[in-house]
Order: sequence, then structure tokens, then C-alpha cells
Amino acid sequence: MATPATSDRTHGQSTGEPAKAAPPVCEFRPGLEGVPATQSAISFVDGKNGILEYRGMAIEELAAHSTFLETTFLLIWGCLPTHEELAEFEHDIRYHRRIKFRIRDMMKCFPDSGHPMDALQASAAALGLFYSRRALPNPAYIRQAAIRLLAKIPTMVAAFQSVRKGNDPIQPRDDLGYAANFLYMLNEKEPDPLAARVFDTCLILHAEHTINASTFSAMVTASTMTDPYAVVASAVGTLAGPLHGGANEEVIDMLEAIGSVENVEPYIDRCIAEKQKIMGFGHRVYKVKDPRATVLQSLAEQLFDKLGRDRYYDLALEVERVVSDRLGHKGIYPNVDFYSGLVYRRLGIPTDLFTPVFAIARVSGWLAHWREQLATNRIFRPTQIYTGEHHVPYESIEQRQSKASFDTF
Ligand code: ACO
Repeated sequence: MATPATSDRTHGQSTGEPAKAAPPVCEFRPGLEGVPATQSAISFVDGKNGILEYRGMAIEELAAHSTFLETTFLLIWGCLPTHEELAEFEHDIRYHRRIKFRIRDMMKCFPDSGHPMDALQASAAALGLFYSRRALPNPAYIRQAAIRLLAKIPTMVAAFQSVRKGNDPIQPRDDLGYAANFLYMLNEKEPDPLAARVFDTCLILHAEHTINASTFSAMVTASTMTDPYAVVASAVGTLAGPLHGGANEEVIDMLEAIGSVENVEPYIDRCIAEKQKIMGFGHRVYKVKDPRATVLQSLAEQLFDKLGRDRYYDLALEVERVVSDRLGHKGIYPNVDFYSGLVYRRLGIPTDLFTPVFAIARVSGWLAHWREQLATNRIFRPTQIYTGEHHVPYESIEQRQSKASFDTF
């Protein structure tokens, strides 16, 4: 007869070695809320006061003065680059922007209806087939792999967009900066300088955010000493979910479903009554408006002043007012995903590329954590609280009665 698991049972095998003192037993925290998973000097969030810093620098200052590549250098190597370091870094990234024709051909076999995040995950993993692995931990290899990933991920996102429309990918242009080149590859048109600057700032804002789900995923994968392409591919898969990076797409779907300013209150009240999450709101850490949402909102306004207002902006403002009114007491305010979609729409980026664009930015954070992880690596291997049975007898197929439930979890 099966016996239920009890907390004092041990199933470890003796090795004959004196047992190491086990770490203190912690209470189970769903979602690991509040459980430190690492020590990190890369970024800092104060969720009560709405503060985000990269390497100690306020996100607002970086958004106002830095560029995405300069910020990436800061995140990965811990300091702002000198003139020479930045010039070399930018040069190396330009040099590695092109992708192998086999990767382009592989994309041509993907279904046009496939989600671009799935295409990106597969393409990022495929990079591992072309570039040597198992050279870890080696600083030169880390730099080279980081450059390849930073350079090629935007090209792969833009290439899939062309391929699924039945066109050949547009080659990167060496005379354009990182953000401008991506917008050019996407729209086959050199972007307005303000659009390029705003997009570059969006990349800064999305570059890093402590141990969120995708970064944790990257770190767990990195801790096995696998190659960086597998690290980034696993993080891309995690970012794709609607509770994480996928929320910015859903914000636009929600605004579309609401349709008019008059519908905002009934729509939001219905969501709250039916306990549905309102996309682009709430955050595990921030209990005030996400500082990135504030910067993004101001970027959206700059763009609208120059290129025309997005028809969803008034709706978004009303959604923010109503949600803050109804749920502000629970600390639920706009997060980074709420206004980013409106900016991306104005830049001509299709809705299902919003999350891949997020990934383009977040590669820098994932790589920074990858490098930091390797410096003091220990494979991630947490424990679990077993809630199943023991000593379950094996039944022959003739004896079995169906117990499987396919309607519940
Ligand atoms: N809409 C309505 N209620 C919400 C929302 C929301 N967006 N977010 C949280 N709540 C409520 C929950 O219903 C819950 O209420 P209760 O205590 O009365 O049951 C309470 O706030 C706590 O919510 P949790 O889901 O437990 O909070 P958690 O920290 O686990 O979730 C998360 C954070 C996943 C971001 C959540 O706020 C959410 O699902 N938001 C919508 C999706 C989204 O915008 N994701 C992007 C996050 S930013 C990023 O990943 C880049």
C-alpha cells in the first residue's frame, strides 16, 4: 500500500563521507518571492520608491545621456567605456551583424504564421551550431560571444519579419547605428533621427532588470556551463510568456478590445470583477508606477508631437486613471510594458515583434548576468518539498482503472 510522504523521510544514499551541514530549511515561497537567488552588482530596484539603477546609475540619467551600446558595455563590463573602448565595441558589433545564409534558409522553413519569439528562440539556439563552444570560462570567448549575440539578434528578428512576408532579408547597413539599423532592416527605410533616438532609449530601458524570470532562466542555464547561445535561447523562451515580456502585445490587444474612452470604466470593472489581470499593470517588485513606464510615456509624447498622435494614447491614459483608481491601493500601476507598445506602434513595429524587440534589449542584461554567473559559478540545484506518495505498487495494465484527469491541472 502507498504511504504518503512525510517530512522526516530521507531518500539520499549514503556515500560513506561525513555529511555536510545542510543549509537552513526555508519555508516554501511560491514563485520564489523574496528568496535571494544570487548576489549581483549589475542592477538595483527599489520597488517602493520607483528606483532602478544600472551599476549604480539612475535609469533616467542613462535614458537621457547614454546610448544602448554604451549602456550594454556598462552592464556587462561594469563601467562606462572610454572613447577607444566604445569605438572598438561599436565597430565589432557592426562587423558581426550579418547572419549565415544557412540561418536565413532555416528561417525560410519556419511557418509564416509562427510567432516571431519562437523563430528567435530557434535562431538564437542555432547560432550555437556555428560558433565553437566549451571555451568557458575564457574572457576573450565571453567578449566574442557577447558581440556576436548583440550583433546578430536584431538581424535575426528583422530577417524573420522579411521572410514571413515572402521577401529576402534586408542586409544590415554599416553606416547606421544600432537602433537606426534595426528600424532600417525592418522597414527598408532609414528612420527619422528622433525615431532612432527614441528606439535606442527604449532599448536602454529594457536592457536589464535584476533577477526577473528570463534572467533567472538564463542564469540557471548558464550555471551548467553550456554555451551562451543556449543561455540566450532559454531566456528568450521565458521572456515570451504573457506574464513577462509578452504583456506588451497584450496591452495593444486590450486597447483594441476596449475601443473607446467611454468603454474603459466598464471594461476595467469587468476585468476586476472576473479577477482577470489587466495587462501592462502590476509588478512583483514595483508598488508604484514603474520608472521605465514614466520615461516611456514621455518618449511616446515626443514621438506623437513629431509624427502624430497614436489613436490609442487617450485610451491608455484613461486606462491608467481607472486602474490606478481601482487598484492603486494594492500597489498596481503601469509597468514597463504599458506604454512601450504605443511607442513601438508609432515606430512602425508590428505588434507581434514587440516581445522580440524586448529580447533585443534584454540580451545585454542576460549576458551581463551570464558573465557574472561564470565568475563564481555553482550549478543551480534547489530543493523541493515532495507532496506525493511512497511505495506505490506497480499494477499490471489489466488491473488498472483510469484515474488520469485531463480536465484539471
Ligand atoms: N490586474 C489586476 N490585478 C492584478 C494585476 C493586474 N495586472 N497584477 C496583480 N494583480 C492583483 C492580483 O489579482 C492579486 O490580488 P489579490 O491579492 O487580491 O488576489 C495581487 O494583485 C497580487 O498579484 P500576483 O499575481 O500575486 O502578483 P505577482 O507579483 O505574482 O505578479 C505580475 C506580478 C505577474 C507582473 C502581475 O502583476 C501580472 O500578471 N500583471 C499583468 C501582466 C504584465 O503586465 N506583465 C508584465 C510585467 S513587467 C515584465 O515582466 C517586463
